[in-house]
Amino acid sequence: MTTSKNAIVAQLAEVRVLPILVTDDVDQAIQCVTTLAENGLPAIEITLRTPNAMTVLREVVKACPQVTVGAGTILTPAQLDAVRNSGAAFGISPGITPALAKAAMESGLPYFPGVGGASELMLALEHGFDVVKLFPSDVVGSIKMAKALGGPFPDVKFCLTGGVTLESTPTLLQQPNVLCVGGSWMCPAALIGAKDWDGIAKLAQVAQKAAAAVR
Ligand code: 3PG
Repeated sequence: MTTSKNAIVAQLAEVRVLPILVTDDVDQAIQCVTTLAENGLPAIEITLRTPNAMTVLREVVKACPQVTVGAGTILTPAQLDAVRNSGAAFGISPGITPALAKAAMESGLPYFPGVGGASELMLALEHGFDVVKLFPSDVVGSIKMAKALGGPFPDVKFCLTGGVTLESTPTLLQQPNVLCVGGSWMCPAALIGAKDWDGIAKLAQVAQKAAAAVR
């Protein structure tokens, strides 16, 4: 899927929750992503944290053209390149390095670097990225950090991930510079392993309702 960064940001601003999928099984990933999308969550992040992750990403992209499939845990320019070649709609990193930020900007892939504070955010801005992942959100201060960074950086939007729960979602989404929240709680390994797609569907529905209630 080729989608502009603006279109992806607009979609994230609309749905406001981004499920983060960690799995090494192609069939389970396709089933999980399809279930999430059918139940109100049309954008997802697949992490590159498992040995087979790149294959999972490629196959999900092929099987789910209706879904905005992004790749997370991009740590190197080589991984970024592989993600771009997979057809993924966007890339996300837990942090930022000058080399990765430069490669991401040159690649044209819609990309969201990770930041944990002001200096990393300044590096992101130097490379033209004003929508960033705040990670690990619950460790670096979550909504308090987003609010504080909103002072010197009023035009930056944050995707809060790391330790986000269903319970914390409505409060986090009330902060004006929080674009969206991401979390693995919408697709837990136990439910995926048990092929409990009804369970995943219910989690997607409650996530979607929690986000919708904030509007
Ligand atoms: C990420 O990859 O962004 C986070 O590890 C997700 O954090 P969570 O598992 O606490 O939701």
